[in-house]
Amino acid sequence: MKALIPAAGMGSRFLPATKAVPKEMLMVVDRPVIQYVVEEGLASGADEVVIINSREKKAIEDHFSPSPALEATLRSRGKDARADAVHHAGALPVSFVYQDEPLGLGHAVRCAHDVIGNEPFFVLLGDVIVPDNKMLVRMKEISDQHDGANVIAVLPVPMEQVSRFGVIDGAQVEDGVWKVNRLVEKPPMEQAPSNLTVFGRYLLSPRVMELLASAKPGAGGEIQLTDALDAVLKEEEMYALVIDPEDGFDTGTVETWLDTNNRMYARMHAAQ
Ligand code: G1P
Repeated sequence: MKALIPAAGMGSRFLPATKAVPKEMLMVVDRPVIQYVVEEGLASGADEVVIINSREKKAIEDHFSPSPALEATLRSRGKDARADAVHHAGALPVSFVYQDEPLGLGHAVRCAHDVIGNEPFFVLLGDVIVPDNKMLVRMKEISDQHDGANVIAVLPVPMEQVSRFGVIDGAQVEDGVWKVNRLVEKPPMEQAPSNLTVFGRYLLSPRVMELLASAKPGAGGEIQLTDALDAVLKEEEMYALVIDPEDGFDTGTVETWLDTNNRMYARMHAAQ
């Protein structure tokens, strides 16, 4: 199974830092944030990660390409641990497709339809780090229990925050798992069907990819992945894994990025 990481956004919340550096390349402790997301995909059973990039963000491709000259220099100076880290980043099985126009998350995912073909696939949004790499594995288990159903991760948030997210309507079927009946992207608080918000980890059927081909612009005038998920419910089942705030660290704003750096630093030191 492949894992898609959409990474073609403009990173406007981080300007001017992201004027020349893609927001996915901002550092969390010792590596760019997107490297954690790539590693999570690979640790969770994905055999390849496909980054949906914009053509301007070449630094992401450079990061995942081999750097033999840099590696050799580091080794000649006895810096083997750093050389190993450089080698590791350049050897991760990552490929790229391109989103040439910023038409929304659904459009970005659709740009990978040729590489996905008729297989289920993961989507991992790059704004969040899942440090223990267990979320996608649990989602796959839930999918397997329900004949290959679609599965998404959802996070309960205070009602005042729901309008920033995709929100599900559904019913609990077991502890921590809901069956989804409807999804709505960025509803006003009064119209939100629950406080369970789409978190940024998805296990989706190839039918979702097909539906994206004819998706129309939705919230914010963008082609929304959430709308294709809502559309697929007429034909297929979807389950939602309810996660804990401690399961994922957000990096989507300057404030949460700083906080995540501190939390990951503490975590990595505790592990040593
Ligand atoms: C996207 C999705 C939304 C989801 C959110 C999670 O929105 O469209 O459904 O809840 O990611 O971060 P964005 O943050 O790109 O506006």
